[in-house]
Amino acid sequence: MISTFDDIVKKILSETPVDEIEALWKFYGDHGYTLPGFAKYFQPEKQIRQKLEWVFNFGLSTSQPLIVLDIGTGAGWLPYTLKYFGHDVHLTDAPTSKKYNLCIKLLGMEKEFCLRVSKQESILDVIGFQKYDLISATGICFHRDWIPGDWRFFIDDCFRAIVDGGRLLLRINNEGQRVGYESFLQYLKLADFKPERFDAITWMLYKP
Ligand SMILES: C[S@@+](CC[C@H](N)C(=O)[O-])C[C@H]1O[C@@H](n2cnc3c(N)ncnc32)[C@H](O)[C@@H]1O
Repeated sequence: MISTFDDIVKKILSETPVDEIEALWKFYGDHGYTLPGFAKYFQPEKQIRQKLEWVFNFGLSTSQPLIVLDIGTGAGWLPYTLKYFGHDVHLTDAPTSKKYNLCIKLLGMEKEFCLRVSKQESILDVIGFQKYDLISATGICFHRDWIPGDWRFFIDDCFRAIVDGGRLLLRINNEGQRVGYESFLQYLKLADFKPERFDAITWMLYKP
């Protein structure tokens, strides 16, 4: 029997400690330890639906199991959703708030290492020799003042850590970081780079 999108959401939710995650948010919210904008990361159904949409859109629900590096993992919802489909996901983030770490723990995962992306700085030193089938970086905001050359550096650098034929999944915030977003589009044009697939702001690039 083929499961529908809603069936899968239900199944993942049934395996998720929803009450604990909502209680975690309530604790932080009630004590004024966080900003309202973070609430969405502690809403399991909303997160699972969003991430599942990307997983489906980019063919990750039917691909063979992949070794994935997730940059800027936040509360861990993309890795969590990918794991449901058998992918082996390695979580990384810049030093981040404890509430994300607690959510990751509740989801039964842990961060593997700290990785901060900086303009024109290679990530390879931190990553080491491991190669990945897919590197993902979603909801990212480290590109505020990037010019196309900075995108070229970052994408080439990621491709060095990706196996031949592997992929880079980028979801680029374009609110408040318009300069970096537009320079990404300019980079694609300048490099004559045709993304494999994209929706409005999510792009899958194939390593050429
Ligand atoms: C909007 S959250 C997105 C979380 C998650 N990727 C998602 O799609 O739900 C942005 C994440 O980027 C991380 N981040 C911010 N600056 C970063 C940097 N320079 N390098 C790596 N991660 C960074 C933050 O710590 C945070 O976890």
